[in-house]
This record gives sequence, C-alpha cells and structure tokens, in this order.
Amino acid sequence: MYEMKDEYLTGIEQIDNEHRRLFEIAEETWQLKNAEFIPDKYDQIKALFEELKEYTQMHFAHEEAYMESIGYKKLFTQKMQHQAFMQWLDEQELDGVNDEYENQDQVIGDILNYLTDWLVHHILDTDKQIPAPEK
Ligand SMILES: [Fe+2]
Ligand SMILES: [Fe+2]
Repeated sequence: MYEMKDEYLTGIEQIDNEHRRLFEIAEETWQLKNAEFIPDKYDQIKALFEELKEYTQMHFAHEEAYMESIGYKKLFTQKMQHQAFMQWLDEQELDGVNDEYENQDQVIGDILNYLTDWLVHHILDTDKQIPAPEK
C-alpha cells in the first residue's frame, strides 16, 4: 500500500533512509490492520503507531539539523510545516481503534492515508528542495 519510490529521493542519504523507514512502518501498520486471524491486534497497532510518531519526530530533528548545518534559507518554512504535522499526529487518538468499535479499520486507515499523503507531498514539494551534499 505504502512504499518509498525513486521519485521521492532527495539525494541526501540519511534523509532518504529515514523516509524509507517511515513508509515501512506505515506499511507494517497497514498490513497488521488488514491481517485476519490475529486476535487482539490493537496493542500491536498502537505500538506501531507510537513508533511512527517517535520516528517522525526524530526524522524532523535530523532533517532540521542538516538544513541548519548548510545554512539553508528555507529552514523556517520547513520547521513550521514539521511542527504543524507533529501537532496533527499528537491529536490522533487510537482509542477508537479496538474491538468494540466497528469502524476500527476506518480510523487507522484514515490516519495512515492522511499521514502518508502528507509525507509524499512534503517530500516532493519541500524536502526535495534541500540541497544535497556534493559528491
Ligand atoms: Fe521536511
Ligand atoms: Fe523529511
């Protein structure tokens, strides 16, 4: 469902690797959500989502540190976008995603859709503008 593509590459190795990992965690969460015959997968989904949150925060910090190190002009714009996204992530509640709720698939599906959609657009429109180190 979700995967890193060549068109997302920024040419900055660490950033590309971290973007790849973000898509992987999103994909793992999606697969787990769709897995049948796993009783009580709520805890696992919640753990993966928390990992996704933590990893995103760490990635933003790395990316911002890199931009700072090269004196990148658009650092501020990036920071604002990162901050707004972290705020959205923090507002997402997974408490509706348990067996008592019929819409659990939809809740996690909607979150993952928005998240990966944001990620793709942010990478294509914003991260790809960051200059890569010369080789
Ligand atoms: Fe970014
Ligand atoms: Fe990024």
